[in-house]
Amino acid sequence: MYEAAGPVDLHDFAADYAVDFAADFANAVRTGLAQPQKVIPARFFYDETGSRLFEAITQLPEYYPTRTETAILSEHAGAIAAAVGPGRVVVEYGSGSSTKTPLLLKPLQPSAYVPVDISGEFLAQSAAALAVQFPGLPILPVIADFTRSFQLPDPVAALPRLGFFPGSTLGNLGPSAAIDLLRSFADVLGPGSWLVIGLDLAPGAGKSVAMLEAAYDDAAGVTAAFNFNLLHRINRELAGTVRTDDFAHRAIWNEGGGRIEMHLVARIDTQFRAAGQNFALAAGETIHTEDSHKWTLAESRLMACASGWSPQAQWTDERARFAVHLWRHEGGAIQP
Ligand code: AVI
Repeated sequence: MYEAAGPVDLHDFAADYAVDFAADFANAVRTGLAQPQKVIPARFFYDETGSRLFEAITQLPEYYPTRTETAILSEHAGAIAAAVGPGRVVVEYGSGSSTKTPLLLKPLQPSAYVPVDISGEFLAQSAAALAVQFPGLPILPVIADFTRSFQLPDPVAALPRLGFFPGSTLGNLGPSAAIDLLRSFADVLGPGSWLVIGLDLAPGAGKSVAMLEAAYDDAAGVTAAFNFNLLHRINRELAGTVRTDDFAHRAIWNEGGGRIEMHLVARIDTQFRAAGQNFALAAGETIHTEDSHKWTLAESRLMACASGWSPQAQWTDERARFAVHLWRHEGGAIQP
């Protein structure tokens, strides 16, 4: 087991893992707004403001995933710990404020905790808060976009691992990117590793389409502000001239795609400049900013099998709105 004198400072790792986020955003806006269906990838929501707005979303009465997943984890973390055993490095993907993490860390008795997040500022604060709650637990934060290749810190290289990917963040990827990401988790975490993953459930008896759409278009307008933050980022960071009043927030359920889609809709014909280029939208035209896929339990298990994981257990709330799954990567096992 890795012994550390105390929690590791975020800045020890920030320099190694930081990427050129500014150039990445400029390229994504130039490319995405040149498509017939304009698009800005959802990962750009999460600057400091966006990360804070997302935390506010998780507290909204309409946004059921966070509190439902928290309740499931509270009830079943002991069963997860019993199945997995102590002494693992917990690698949390997209850790954000790490609010659900203690629920898992307490019964799990890990050897180290590696939170991975794109927002350095946020990561520093939540790592510091967890260090107080778990004195003596080595915490090795990594600033990275986990959908791209990144390395685990050297001190945990030889330890057994458990990935933690709560919040149905996988849903923000398309089906093939989701499978690729799960496969890369299996590769990085290695044979014998486990994954605890929260996946939002498709509409059904306990969950209507209206309820789903309200979760992404709340009465207080927090999700709209989260969506609009992309336009503000364009103005702030890419010398943009977007008139944000020309846009409206839209969240709709796409039945065929099994996903909620978020868009910024042009209310009138509008033009702007950003990242050194001119862009125009006709009234009604949209910028597609996010997909949030939802799956049945069977679809979720199929995704596991398609990406090198074998489903071990799953837990849902009593209304079947959300599910937490426990998967294991055997590695190298030959299937019949
Ligand atoms: C982070 N992700 C899982 C959230 C979701 O539900 O797709 C992001 C979000 N978008 C709007 N509300 C929340």
